[in-house]
Amino acid sequence: MHRTHTCGELTAKNADTTVTLCGWVNTRRDHGGLIFFDLRDRYGLTQIVCHPEQAQRVEGHPESDKAVFKIAESVRPEWVLKVTGKVSKRLSGTENNTMPTGQIEIVATGLEVLSRAKTPPFEIDSDKPVNEELRLEYRYLDLRRAQMQRNLALRSKVFQIIRKYFTEQNCLEIDTPCLIKGTPEGAREYIVPSRVYPGNFFVLPQSPQQLKQLCMVGGLDRYFQIARCFRDEDLRGDRQPEFLQLDFEMSFCEQKDVQEIIQGSIEQIIAECSKKKLKWGKVGSFPWQHVMDTYGSDKPDLRFDLPIADVSELVPGCGFKVFEEALKLKRGTVRALRVPGGAELSRSEIDTWTELAKELKAKGLAYILFKPEGPQSPLLKFFKDGFLEKLTEKTGAKTGDALFFGADTFKIVCASLGRIRNEAAKRFNLIDTETHALFWVTDFPMFEENDDGSLTFSHHPFTSPNIEQWKKRKEEPLNVHSVCYDLVLDGYELGSGSIRIHDPVLQAEVFEMLGISKEDQQKRFGHILHAFEYGAPPHGGFAYGIDRVVMILAGEPNIREVTPFPKDQKAKDLMLGAPAPVELGQLKELGLTVEAE
Ligand code: AMO
Ligand code: AMP
Repeated sequence: MHRTHTCGELTAKNADTTVTLCGWVNTRRDHGGLIFFDLRDRYGLTQIVCHPEQAQRVEGHPESDKAVFKIAESVRPEWVLKVTGKVSKRLSGTENNTMPTGQIEIVATGLEVLSRAKTPPFEIDSDKPVNEELRLEYRYLDLRRAQMQRNLALRSKVFQIIRKYFTEQNCLEIDTPCLIKGTPEGAREYIVPSRVYPGNFFVLPQSPQQLKQLCMVGGLDRYFQIARCFRDEDLRGDRQPEFLQLDFEMSFCEQKDVQEIIQGSIEQIIAECSKKKLKWGKVGSFPWQHVMDTYGSDKPDLRFDLPIADVSELVPGCGFKVFEEALKLKRGTVRALRVPGGAELSRSEIDTWTELAKELKAKGLAYILFKPEGPQSPLLKFFKDGFLEKLTEKTGAKTGDALFFGADTFKIVCASLGRIRNEAAKRFNLIDTETHALFWVTDFPMFEENDDGSLTFSHHPFTSPNIEQWKKRKEEPLNVHSVCYDLVLDGYELGSGSIRIHDPVLQAEVFEMLGISKEDQQKRFGHILHAFEYGAPPHGGFAYGIDRVVMILAGEPNIREVTPFPKDQKAKDLMLGAPAPVELGQLKELGLTVEAE
């Protein structure tokens, strides 16, 4: 090894020993005749001091004819050095108690420049915000920053906990391929052309869903994998085109068995990686209908309360057309969110919130401000006598509060008020940041309606329906629940899972409800339908997003901060410059032509 120690481990106990450290120059300070610099590596910083009189010759190096001090004078931030010297206690009053090595410094007796560096495009050792595009273009420099090193160390720790935990649960770690066939999870797919079979394509997995189910048919009983998944979907802070799932599947189980194992792993990760406690001291569980009705979201942040009230029954004859018309819609509803303290919101803040609601298809965001001098709202002039009183009684609104209304279909009202609920919590500091709110959401609808009235799956098409409700699927498809369960942490969907269909007849019925023809079923899913004919065990599983777990535990606002080499918000790798055109010859070989733009 080039070094005897790392830059984070020397203390006063090592005083008077001779050591060699390697690392990057963090900062250099010249103090009349003395040169100080901090040497940095993954483990920390160590102060180096160079006295001119201690200059020595360094053997076997181009710099060897120069004295240590001369070299020290020339070093610049981010040069890579090998420093030999004596560990020396710092003079009294010059110690730095904020760093583990703050009691000592190395008096350099030998300096070797291992690498020079250009001036980096941003300061590595600075808390100043840096343009994210620049950070992603020079990710290898960004990775040197303390925050990225902490985040990636946390990520690595989470991997270790997961591997140990699931192995102890008697799972086999099984790797499934990435060059496969489409697996529907609701996103667009990334495809890979085949050279051997021109005009044919592999599809990168959105998840290993079908393969892990086939592992169960294969008798492997319990499986886990840290699986790379690919989804070509609109990016958000908590989404990347490729990401990692902890993917899990088990045989001969019920919902609660899967939940117990998954919950145990997240509880262990939180216990080992977070200083915060679980709210309620345990993991809660709520039916989907309850969280949608009460919080307007299937992944509400329950570190704060702020419930939404259904005021539909007060609306008939209320005098305000927008509300009355909403009830005539299919699944129309009128709901109100009480924001304590909301009366102080400015007009422009309300306008901003209205725009947020409109982004989610709401037509507006009606409101009432309960000012000390009396309620204020453009709506009051429309309200018939008694309606305002009924609203205040139902919602508990009092002086100082605001009420915000959604009047539309259930889906739009939930989406818009759910978002305003989050905005209100941030604006009025209602989030208890000392806890984690971890809970299950269960009893999801099996299907959702597309805008054109056709059905789509809520989870994925391999999810088992509630068998009793399934009998009425033709008459009331939207009332069929699935045996599906989500895990929510601090307002993020961590993961989803379900008990699967293992009966080929039921699986074909589900495909039929989704409008997938018999021929298409065979073409797309023949492998799994056939496999189920050879003795499939009842099975179920779950997957959670590892990047999301790490993001939440690191307190970061997006998963790019905890992903070593992420794509930017437009799905580009700015460092590698990908995606990029390929050689014409490569296209020819694949039998592909690209249309000019
Ligand atoms: P689902 O589609 O809900 O379920 O995905 C599981 C979890 O994966 C994470 N995730 C993502 N993370 C980052 N970027 C993305 N683009 C992204 N998409 C999803 C989320 C999500 O909750 N096969 C099923 C699981 C099962 O039924 O066992 C599945 O993939 O945290
Ligand atoms: P308008 O009648 O369109 O001028 O709207 C009057 C008020 O009601 C405005 O504050 C709108 O933002 C709000 N509003 C309009 N449509 C809706 C709706 N569907 N849901 C909630 N508020 C609405």
